[in-house]
Amino acid sequence: MAPTNLIIALAGIGAAAVLRVLYWAAQFVVYHFWRSSKPLTAYKRVGTDAYALVTGASAGIGLSIARELVRQGFGVVLLGHLPDELAAAAKSLNSPRVRTLVVNARTATPEHISGAVKSISDLNISILINNVGGFPLADPPLRSLNTLTTAEVDAHVDLNARFMARLTNLMLPLLAASKKQTNERSLVLNMSSAGRVGMPWIVMYSATKGFNYSFSMALSRELEDDPATAHIDCLVAVLGEVQSQSNVMAEGAITADVFGSYVVGGIDGAVSRKWREVRPYWGHDLQIGLMDRILPESMLTHFAREELREKKNRWDAIMAKRR
Ligand SMILES: NC(=O)c1ccc[n+]([C@@H]2O[C@H](COP(=O)([O-])OP(=O)(O)OC[C@H]3O[C@@H](n4cnc5c(N)ncnc54)[C@H](OP(=O)(O)O)[C@@H]3O)[C@@H](O)[C@H]2O)c1
Repeated sequence: MAPTNLIIALAGIGAAAVLRVLYWAAQFVVYHFWRSSKPLTAYKRVGTDAYALVTGASAGIGLSIARELVRQGFGVVLLGHLPDELAAAAKSLNSPRVRTLVVNARTATPEHISGAVKSISDLNISILINNVGGFPLADPPLRSLNTLTTAEVDAHVDLNARFMARLTNLMLPLLAASKKQTNERSLVLNMSSAGRVGMPWIVMYSATKGFNYSFSMALSRELEDDPATAHIDCLVAVLGEVQSQSNVMAEGAITADVFGSYVVGGIDGAVSRKWREVRPYWGHDLQIGLMDRILPESMLTHFAREELREKKNRWDAIMAKRR
């Protein structure tokens, strides 16, 4: 190639790369900072109240999402395992359209889950938020896999993966039937985590968050292919650190009580762009984008390991004091 042609080719590649970065930056700004003032219109219903079922909704991110949904005019069904906590959460929402479902997501049998779903089949449910999840093991939560009991290994699968798969399976007919008018849509939103890529000392948590991710991607592709379910949107939310009762060491991170408004506010923009994955909070989006697209594997492993090691050391110190 003549030197001039080489320079032109390199300039073209450079310009394409710059345009790509500019496009990404513009998308980022528009998505995160220009949100609808009337979110979730497609999930509302003409002539009747639309409801959302939110799991793990007595505290943390689940309660925060439920609060935001109420603010946007939805009725909500709060699912949790401790009746008193659920009742307090329901009362705090201060809305006549709140129901509670007492279900232990870790131990519920198929019969129990299907009974729970039947008990709310009188409601027009257009949204399912599969939020429940966490670290079902004795403290400290950050430990090597070989220190977990078999019951603790299973508990992660039961709480974080099996329950949301079973519940979604049973809820899909309700979500499909909820549409009465042409423009009406339904939604399944599943909670994954930046840990889905595989983090040390939280192996089972990471693995089940990977399950949430691929379950959601697969379901989204399946639903859109069938005219009977193509009106059901399916998104997976990928989260970085959020301060909550299961993440008490996330000092400086966004708090669960405000995080719900980012989740709810981020749905329409993600659906209209035909995304299957959403990172509702801009800080997480930057961090996860860096992890997923820019950092080489060796640096990803280094940073993830150092961050988790620091938390693990703090937990180990707490455990030493408790002894
Ligand atoms: N916080 C983070 O940094 C972060 C990061 C990435 C992803 N996520 C994901 O976001 C979701 C919510 O996390 P969070 O931080 O808000 O958790 P959280 O503060 O621990 O809240 C979890 C909720 O689930 C309920 N719950 C716990 N065990 C249950 C069970 N066996 N059956 C039914 N309900 C149960 C809790 O009720 P009780 O209070 O009554 O136990 C609470 O309402 C999870 O899927 C988590 O993996 C969180």
